[in-house]
Amino acid sequence: MTAHPERLQDSPDLDRSDRPLPQHVAFIMDGNGRWAKARGLPRTEGHRRGLEALRGAVRHAGKIGIDFLTFFSFSSENWSRPPTEVSFLMGLLKRFIERDLSELHEANTRVRVIGAREDLDPGILALLQKAETLTKDNTGLTVVIAFNYGSRDEIVRATRKLGARIAAGELSPEAIDEELFDRTLDTAGIPDPDLLVRTSGEIRISNFLLWQSAYTEFHFSPLNWPDFDAQAFDAALEDFCARDRRFGGLSVKVV
Ligand code: IPE
Ligand code: IPE
Ligand code: MG
Repeated sequence: MTAHPERLQDSPDLDRSDRPLPQHVAFIMDGNGRWAKARGLPRTEGHRRGLEALRGAVRHAGKIGIDFLTFFSFSSENWSRPPTEVSFLMGLLKRFIERDLSELHEANTRVRVIGAREDLDPGILALLQKAETLTKDNTGLTVVIAFNYGSRDEIVRATRKLGARIAAGELSPEAIDEELFDRTLDTAGIPDPDLLVRTSGEIRISNFLLWQSAYTEFHFSPLNWPDFDAQAFDAALEDFCARDRRFGGLSVKVV
């Protein structure tokens, strides 16, 4: 495998190694609240600034030629936060889609949404569906929004879908293999993340992409998400490029 050296030209700080850039980078955008607290601001201001950081990451990925970005925006466990914060986060997603959708579409970006849809406000659901439908044939960067997402919940929902097909006599249990299970998850058709970045210094996965991250490389940044800029993104990519991904085999360097 070769790198995409032409794609690194826009990022002069990035080490030009002979390894490929990740095709898919997933982000656990953590630390918005702490970012705000450190500045004496309300947590909501941290979330607002976090959305700016997301926009920056999308722009940067577009420049350097990464194909898929996934953003953990609201977890199935985040409903346990105070109602005012939950409704702010719902409103922020709504405003993001309303304001950015046409720009994303013009930039040939495809939007995908993963997570449970049942509990969502019908207005938000309609917007998410509109974003997916409008951009489904775009061929540039794919932005995956993990909203009301929990990996265990996703796995249980997929299992139910397969169970229902077995009960209906359409599927035999023996026909279930990794490939079919993978295609039944919310992330069907999206390659597994090559790199997962979590900000804010927390070193845990918090119920994110458990199945999909079986062979993902992890990068933990001490920065809170609103401070995660192009330079920090490049540092994560550089870290990734230095990894030796063996997938259970032997290093390509070892003959
Ligand atoms: C991440 O920032 C955003 C969401 C989980 C929605 P946090 O809100 O978790 O910020 P901290 O971890 O409290 O600092
Ligand atoms: C993970 O962050 C969820 C999102 C970034 C949306 P949390 O702040 O909810 O995770 P924990 O509670 O610290 O594990
Ligand atoms: Mg947090």
